[in-house]
Amino acid sequence: MPNTVLVGAQWGDEGKGKIIDVLTDESDIVVRMQGGNNAGHTVLVGKKKYVLHLIPSGILRARKKCIIGNGVVLDPVHLVSEIDGLLKLGTNVKGRLFVSQNAHLVLPYHRSLDALREASKGGKKIGTTGRGIGPAYGDKVARVGIRLADLMSPDRFAGMLKERIRVNNIPLREHGLKPVSFKGVLGSYLEAGERLKPLVTNTLLMLHEAMEQKKRLLFEGAQGTFLDIDHGSYPYVTSSSTTSGGASTGTGVPPNRIDRVVGVMKAYTTRVGEGPFPTEEAALGDMFHNMGREFGATTGRARRCGWFDAVLTRHACMVNGFNDISVTNVDGLDQLKSINVCVAYKLDGETVRHVPPSTLDLERCEPVYETFKGWQCSTEKCRSWKDLPLRARQYLKAIAKVTGAKLSSVSVGPDRKQTIRLV
Ligand code: GDP
Ligand code: IMO
Ligand code: MG
Repeated sequence: MPNTVLVGAQWGDEGKGKIIDVLTDESDIVVRMQGGNNAGHTVLVGKKKYVLHLIPSGILRARKKCIIGNGVVLDPVHLVSEIDGLLKLGTNVKGRLFVSQNAHLVLPYHRSLDALREASKGGKKIGTTGRGIGPAYGDKVARVGIRLADLMSPDRFAGMLKERIRVNNIPLREHGLKPVSFKGVLGSYLEAGERLKPLVTNTLLMLHEAMEQKKRLLFEGAQGTFLDIDHGSYPYVTSSSTTSGGASTGTGVPPNRIDRVVGVMKAYTTRVGEGPFPTEEAALGDMFHNMGREFGATTGRARRCGWFDAVLTRHACMVNGFNDISVTNVDGLDQLKSINVCVAYKLDGETVRHVPPSTLDLERCEPVYETFKGWQCSTEKCRSWKDLPLRARQYLKAIAKVTGAKLSSVSVGPDRKQTIRLV
């Protein structure tokens, strides 16, 4: 498999972790390029369930290397605990995980500011994961961020941290919140930095050397297209470039070295947090939640659920340039008598076939549905296209057609084996 970028085509949690795990088998290095531990990527290996937040999902395949690129924001204390957690489950990252020295740090004041900003928005809150992602990327863009390379030089780190804590404690005190302790953070971050030292490197050079050696790169997107800072339902988005372009800026691998872009989408739609969701359907959410599915992998929040929205996925196809798509969670629809697919919106009496640029307009869009007959039998044991019930095949063909992309795989359960490859 050539250099491949995999991104979510909806609002995150499309099943990227599972598909990355499958594609890792045909890759050499798996690379995270953006986001932080707001991500939660679930991979089921036999009876073991892993939820990865910062470490690429490829780590679960023996001998594969993984890289956390410059575009990621990371809390080093969290990364150490994720590494230790994996070790407890029998996966050792030693010699296989590398982190860019240019990755920006998430610090405790970012989390406090995240909470403060959300609280001050009242009814208009974003519903963030509370991981300090927005404030950390904010510091990066404002050119006052602290990077992993800074943490590797304790004196430099201490000086920068002191100044940033002084500045950020002002709003915290103003709002009666607990100021961040310089000593406490310095101690825990330096300790984590010491642990991470062997992993911190020039990942840009590593990636380019790997490409010279014809190694196959797999880029693991976090979040999804409509959470993208530029192309998402702003301001109800995350603070990074979650679309395929983010793979280049977040790693230093230029666009002309990327051969394939895969879009992952659920056979329906989910979203965590606030913001527009034209096809949201409470009854569908109730059904999934009663089945024990569609709870957030990072925060445990019940995900909002709705029908497949082809207006969104067509837009995602345009923005990301999908070569092909992977449709997951088909089994979630197994019991339904009929299934809706949104093919257009109604806005002010007009039929709209594209996502309106304004989030306020998207909020007012009413879905126009095409209704499909359900297959009403289990797909969980299907292992080939032919095994799928005819109506499921018709449904999948229809959503690929309205999305305008080639279907490359279908997922009918969380396990590796529950994946039907079409190419
Ligand atoms: P990610 O953030 O895109 O990696 O997705 P999450 O891990 O947050 O959420 C996807 C959830 O769906 C996880 O619990 C996966 O184990 C699960 N999953 C992925 N594909 C399938 C599928 O085809 N069927 C079922 N039942 N679960 C799936
Ligand atoms: P993965 O990689 C689903 C959502 C939050 C919130 C918005 C902003 O598992 O698909 P943030 O904490 O990033 O500032 O929150 O983005 N969000 C996700 N939703 N999956 C994710 O990641 C998400 N990461 C952030 O719920 O609406
Ligand atoms: Mg997730």
